[in-house]
Amino acid sequence: MENRFGAGRGKIGLVGLFVSAVLGVGLAANAQTAEQAWLRGPNRLVLVGKVVALGSSPIEQSAVQELSRSVSHPASVKGGTFSTRAGRENSLTVVGTAEEIRKAYPEVPIPSDLKPEEYWIWSKGTQEPNLLIVAGGDERGALYGAFAIRRQPVTAEMGKAQFNYPLRGHPAMPIRWVDEWDNPDGSIERGYAGRSIFFEGGNVRDDLAPVAEYARLLASVGINGCNLNNVNAAPELLNADHLKQIARVADAMRPWGVRLAMSVALVSPEKLGGLKTNDPLDPEVKAWWAAKVEEIYKLIPDFAGLTVKADSEGQVGPASYGRTPADAANMLAAALEPHGGLVLYRAFVYDHHLDWRDPKADRARAAYDIFHPLDGKFAANVIVQTKEGPIDFQAREPMSPLFAGLRETNQAMELQITQEYLGQQRHLVYIAPMWKQVLDFDLRADGRSTPVKEILAGKSFHRPLGGMVGVACVGRDAWLGSQLAMANLYAFGRLAWDPDLTPEQIADEWAKQTIGTDPLVVSTVEKMLMQSWPAYEHYTGFLGTQTLTDITGSHYGPNSEASERNGWGQWHRDDAQGIGMDRTVATGTGFAGQYPPEVAKMYESLDTTPDDLLLFFHHVPYTYKLKSGETVIQYVYDSHYKGAEEAAELGREWATLKRHVDPALFDDVKARLEYQAGHAIVWRDAIVQYFLKQSGIPDAEGRAGHYPGRLEAEDARLTGYKVIDVTPWEDASGGKAVSCADVKGCSAEWTWNGAAGRFDVAVQYFDLQGGAAKFEFEVNGKEAARWTANALLPSRRPHGDNSIRYTVRGVELKSGDVLRVEGTSDGSDPAALDYVEVMPSR
Ligand code: GCU
Repeated sequence: MENRFGAGRGKIGLVGLFVSAVLGVGLAANAQTAEQAWLRGPNRLVLVGKVVALGSSPIEQSAVQELSRSVSHPASVKGGTFSTRAGRENSLTVVGTAEEIRKAYPEVPIPSDLKPEEYWIWSKGTQEPNLLIVAGGDERGALYGAFAIRRQPVTAEMGKAQFNYPLRGHPAMPIRWVDEWDNPDGSIERGYAGRSIFFEGGNVRDDLAPVAEYARLLASVGINGCNLNNVNAAPELLNADHLKQIARVADAMRPWGVRLAMSVALVSPEKLGGLKTNDPLDPEVKAWWAAKVEEIYKLIPDFAGLTVKADSEGQVGPASYGRTPADAANMLAAALEPHGGLVLYRAFVYDHHLDWRDPKADRARAAYDIFHPLDGKFAANVIVQTKEGPIDFQAREPMSPLFAGLRETNQAMELQITQEYLGQQRHLVYIAPMWKQVLDFDLRADGRSTPVKEILAGKSFHRPLGGMVGVACVGRDAWLGSQLAMANLYAFGRLAWDPDLTPEQIADEWAKQTIGTDPLVVSTVEKMLMQSWPAYEHYTGFLGTQTLTDITGSHYGPNSEASERNGWGQWHRDDAQGIGMDRTVATGTGFAGQYPPEVAKMYESLDTTPDDLLLFFHHVPYTYKLKSGETVIQYVYDSHYKGAEEAAELGREWATLKRHVDPALFDDVKARLEYQAGHAIVWRDAIVQYFLKQSGIPDAEGRAGHYPGRLEAEDARLTGYKVIDVTPWEDASGGKAVSCADVKGCSAEWTWNGAAGRFDVAVQYFDLQGGAAKFEFEVNGKEAARWTANALLPSRRPHGDNSIRYTVRGVELKSGDVLRVEGTSDGSDPAALDYVEVMPSR
């Protein structure tokens, strides 16, 4: 019985934890398709008769294909949206651009002001239509119309409008892109779903069928651009051979209206062209880029543009030549302008060698300090692309103040769909509620209402271009690895199309299309999704401290000190007395002053800073009282216990759906949620243990540092196992574990002195990369469970990244019984063990 998070079986009447889930089974056959996500089979609607396109373009053909796919067999459908009992043979669904429709059907009242990408759906006759028009302001609009019809039975918006044509829809903002961070060798930076669908072994893959399917998924939620490769860009992708290969990727996406873009490294003129400099103002450099762009457009006439990461995390940029981001962006913009291409210049520019001893140093300031003075200096086809928060996709950050700091510059907001700091798809975190808060946040520029969504739509500052870019990093393993994580890709597209949708509405739409329409399923999944981000925040990053993870490595497990005392600037500055970054103007780094006055005033004062961002803006003692009346330190304890309990609750909720959802999906999600509940405990204990020691203030509830039923491995009778220190210490219970490094088989034994009863026994161990260690749990010499440690978790050292639990349920114990864990190392996995915990049976 194999599972990504471990494998095993319960014996002698004990119920083993693990299930035979293989990821994506039932959803994944051999090919990787859009059906594995939300575009499942035919929906409940019955289309009118034949579906035809007026034009011959591939995009219109895609629309026809999509509508034809969604036709159900009329006999099996009651009350389908477009059903007709009579006259079906004479009925027609017509796809076309407004212009085409006008010519072919002059009697159809098509509006004269349909904009590009807008759709208009109209039906002649309401009860028994025999002509259904799916028109677009352009071909893409018609395609989006087709997908809107496909979604129709599940969207509230359209549900209400049933039989109430015309239906009209247009995107809120023109730029709705995903970024992939794929490398030519097939790896993906911050990708958690297997290898690249685009590249392998240095080249574009022969089989691009998954790319076309991906484009179909993207188009279905209105995404119109895809930036192919890692922002830490490999210069060789710009050589002639690679560009020819990349043109195939553009070809695969084109029928779905998804235009291709690429990340470029500003060192390319030197690395690839043999030039002596990369100075953006150097005439030879300019000429090199102009020729390169020309070459790209010969191969990809509808190429969307270039994304640039420069002067950031080791990427060379204009600063090396005494130039500004505007100099570099405008140089590329000039090369792209004749072809209609765009430059997405990332504002993720900062010094990662900051002096942590300097109380005024602050990475959060960097984007505004660098880009605000350049406002108005960027060319018309440049878009400054800024992450939503001033640091880096943390569990919670305030809005980047730069969005109000650029009035005469086009702007896009970069969000992360791949869950780099949010549990890497092993944890369920539905991010739409966070994005929604961000989009609705009112920056109050000039003292008027300027919510971020309106800035991005170009409304607030009258900009012609703007939008949202989602870093997706899909791979070959069911797109995002976890089925429930696909709700994030779906939500990203839907919010970029319409930021007024609510996360609940989107969850509802997505669940109905992906998991099932049974009201119990829909309400349970929606509830779980909505609970997931708060739960994750509770156990990983409290009161705006950001995610307390290993920021220089995996960005996954707990590691409080990793963010401190180094140049990366993700500090939260905890010491024995208190915690938090003082970012006020009065006494701190001055970051709060980068916001427009009303928002600046709110964050400047302790009284008006919301609790959930308290420690992002202020340094306070652990005894500081929150608005809730609780002290900061008690909140640390309470929120972590609460978060771990909420994570466990997700699993219990999902369990109620057994027999209501696809069995393979059920097993896969169940195994993931069980893993998450265990890892939430690892997080809880690490952070609580760390701050208990740091503050010296006990938990008023008596939980922190006290673990009833926990039997430490280092206190066991050990055979073969050696006691080791775990780094960071807080990632192991009591700071120590045991490791079976040099021997094959080791064991740890305890005698149970507690009361008799029926228990669940959790075995907490470390599943390291580089081998598949084996474990066995015995009671009085009898095997109760055995499993293999072959989960795909980060790191070859034991710590919070790979600390994992295996729960044996329903174990009968009485005083004097001997509990024994046997560990067999394999390769470089030493079957390291932290503790066993005997808990009342659930
Ligand atoms: C984060 C991430 C990097 C990425 C960078 C970026 O720091 O960890 O892998 O390259 O963001 O957005 O450029």
